[in-house]
Amino acid sequence: MGGGVLTVTSRALQQLASLLLERAGLKITPDGYHSLRLALSTRMPLMGVVDPEEYLRRLRSDENELRALLPLVTVGHTEFFRDPKQFQALEQRILPEALQRARREYRKVSIWSAGCATGEEPYSLAMVLVELGALSIEVDLWATDLNVAAVEAARQGRFSARRLAGMSQERRNRFFRPVEDGYEVAPLLKDYVRFDGQNLAVASFDKVQPESLDLILCRNVIIYFDLPTIRALMDRFLTALRPGGLLLLGYSESLFKVYDRFEMVEVDGAFVYRRPKDLAEPRPGIRPMSFFELPVIQTQSSSTTVEEGPAVLPATRSLRETLEVSPAVQRTVEVPTVKVEPPREPKSKPRRPSRSLKLSPEERLNAAVRMIERGDFVSAVSTLEHLLADEPGHLDGLLTLGNLYSLTGRVEDARETFAQAIAREPLCVEARVFGGLAELQAGHLVAARSELGKALFLEPTLAIGHYLVAQVHERLVDHEAARRSYRNAISQLRFSQRPLAGHYPDLPDSAESISRAARYALAALEEAP
Ligand SMILES: C[S@@+](CC[C@H](N)C(=O)[O-])C[C@H]1O[C@@H](n2cnc3c(N)ncnc32)[C@H](O)[C@@H]1O
Repeated sequence: MGGGVLTVTSRALQQLASLLLERAGLKITPDGYHSLRLALSTRMPLMGVVDPEEYLRRLRSDENELRALLPLVTVGHTEFFRDPKQFQALEQRILPEALQRARREYRKVSIWSAGCATGEEPYSLAMVLVELGALSIEVDLWATDLNVAAVEAARQGRFSARRLAGMSQERRNRFFRPVEDGYEVAPLLKDYVRFDGQNLAVASFDKVQPESLDLILCRNVIIYFDLPTIRALMDRFLTALRPGGLLLLGYSESLFKVYDRFEMVEVDGAFVYRRPKDLAEPRPGIRPMSFFELPVIQTQSSSTTVEEGPAVLPATRSLRETLEVSPAVQRTVEVPTVKVEPPREPKSKPRRPSRSLKLSPEERLNAAVRMIERGDFVSAVSTLEHLLADEPGHLDGLLTLGNLYSLTGRVEDARETFAQAIAREPLCVEARVFGGLAELQAGHLVAARSELGKALFLEPTLAIGHYLVAQVHERLVDHEAARRSYRNAISQLRFSQRPLAGHYPDLPDSAESISRAARYALAALEEAP
């Protein structure tokens, strides 16, 4: 197939779209069928299948293959000038300064768009560079992806009119030319980008020199990586960047508590990671002139100066209580799960964090988490709503806010918030887990089972997911199914359990607490009549 894009009938694509919706809750509209074709073009040759219908049959019976296809399907999830705040910082500060610096040093400005999908990100960078007056010979813009079909599509640079819909007329006229079924990137722009295949999860990057890059964009890629892979990748990025070079991650991707060798700096409202000048001793900040010297934002400690609302007592029954006291033990036929009482009003109106604009999104989220831990849900909701007004796609914020809405009985708001998280990250397991938990709390057991089923399809080894499914079965008085799911929860603990994104008060995150709760529930079910 040589990296080309397959021809697949629209009937087969429709069938595939329904299968993805049914199993993973992934909604693919006909506009996204191109990404399905790209995904098939990558997986089918690997599986030695040439007929799309045959591959579809295989997908129906082979969950692992369906799971392998999923990250490739979401390749379509990209757009021109994605994350306007970052692009504003790129246009106003990051690229002009990097360009100036490179010119001073008589070298090219070196940029890597790592995980570039179908090319919208590197072409957006290229447009900005042209607008800043950079010549193509002054720029080395390397754009790579694991998905070779996506790279090929990016190289061709053909986009539907809909993909260009949000772009200014001026840019569209200058950088694209109309073709039969949409637009094609003008040769002028193609000259700026070098496309290539590159797996980011490899031990070393043979094509990247140490300390050679001014800027790396690796946005909305590491969300699917496990912690060791992220840490190893960050080591390689750190080595590849010049001292003072910048790394931009996606909205919802944070290195908080994951990797601390980068400094975090704010550039025109966007939070970015910077390779310290001196790797051994990151320098604390003094207010400077350029982003190379911008002050470091401390995200690894909890010391923020945010003003928080007054503390109140915990307003809801914690999930831990629910988990530790199995429904079957709690007596009678009506089995209560997480019972929600209305939150107590704080003594005064919640105040907006006065320095919120100066705090990083992580610090604002942490402040909200501390409010939740004190039981001040009202202030936490307000803090998170403000955070999301500034950072609409902040995944941890969305998940935490959805949980708070659910815990305070705002089921519709919770649903809408989890739907936003899924729109942001279609394969977000947490949105399914917490969405299922919200339905469970609201007593919508069929919806809860469906959401949790999707979470477990995406991540079958997630013990807490099995545990919650068991709770749903118990509520449905299907004790046999409940026992099976509790046992599944225990047996999945042989795999290490990753921390979930988003915060849920008292959610047991350790293997011990899940195991204890599941064993307790099982024992209670054995005793149940
Ligand atoms: C959601 S897209 C992000 C595209 C773009 N960076 C953006 O933010 O709009 C994620 C991309 O990461 C790529 N990807 C996933 N795993 C990868 C890996 N191990 N190495 C390189 N790219 C990978 C996928 O193929 C996909 O194109």
